[in-house]
Amino acid sequence: MIRVRSVVKQYDTVRALDGVDLDVAAGESVALMGASGSGKSTLLHLLGGLDAPSAGAIEIGGLNLEKLDDTELSRFRRERLGFVFQFFHLLPTLSVLENTMLQGRLAGLEEGALRIRAEALLDRVSLRSRGDEKPDVLSGGQRQRVALARALVTRPMLLLADEPTGNLDSVSSADVLTLLSEMVRENNTTLVMATHSNEAAQIAGRVVRLKDGKISKSY
Ligand SMILES: Nc1ncnc2c1ncn2[C@@H]1O[C@H](COP(=O)(O)OP(=O)(O)OP(=O)(O)O)[C@@H](O)[C@H]1O
Ligand SMILES: [Mg+2]
Repeated sequence: MIRVRSVVKQYDTVRALDGVDLDVAAGESVALMGASGSGKSTLLHLLGGLDAPSAGAIEIGGLNLEKLDDTELSRFRRERLGFVFQFFHLLPTLSVLENTMLQGRLAGLEEGALRIRAEALLDRVSLRSRGDEKPDVLSGGQRQRVALARALVTRPMLLLADEPTGNLDSVSSADVLTLLSEMVRENNTTLVMATHSNEAAQIAGRVVRLKDGKISKSY
């Protein structure tokens, strides 16, 4: 599913990634761990096509990212990837249901089918009855559950999560992790998650440790 080869990312004077090789199989869940500044978010950004490596190659689901033009890359992101972030990134002017449907609209899914899918996902994260409310009335854990539903509405092959529990209390965090692991398994979605939390890493089948932009351990 993911093949990363000799990837380097240089920002001015900082070498954020320094020769990373990584293979992730379809359906696998991987936790990226390592100290602050070790390159976790940088690697996720490159996997998501949000930024390009300075050197090396990234292949996802048989697509070589550097060979895609901007249109193909944004289409790939819309249709094949899901993202979950530390600070949720829900749109405040849209309702919970509209937020959940958003990615599907961008991917061009048919409205009726999309609504059914979004409602089923909100049901899955126990928030179906909150669909008409705005995200700002929800708790952090509830917002992250909406973000999870939103990320999965297109049934992406790859879900990228950057510290998805980094801003949650331990109870909400445990909730989100349980849902995350169950939902990626149900959908056979590949998961790559950056995290500082050992509890979060436990839902992953494998931990990959980064140190100074290099993979120091994989277990
Ligand atoms: N846009 C950028 N411009 C310049 N330097 C950057 C940029 N993004 C990241 N860096 C640098 O690259 C290195 C890796 O950063 P990255 O955000 O990937 O770390 P991280 O492992 O995600 O850390 P954290 O656990 O704190 O989120 C850091 O030294 C950071 O300062
Ligand atoms: Mg980070």
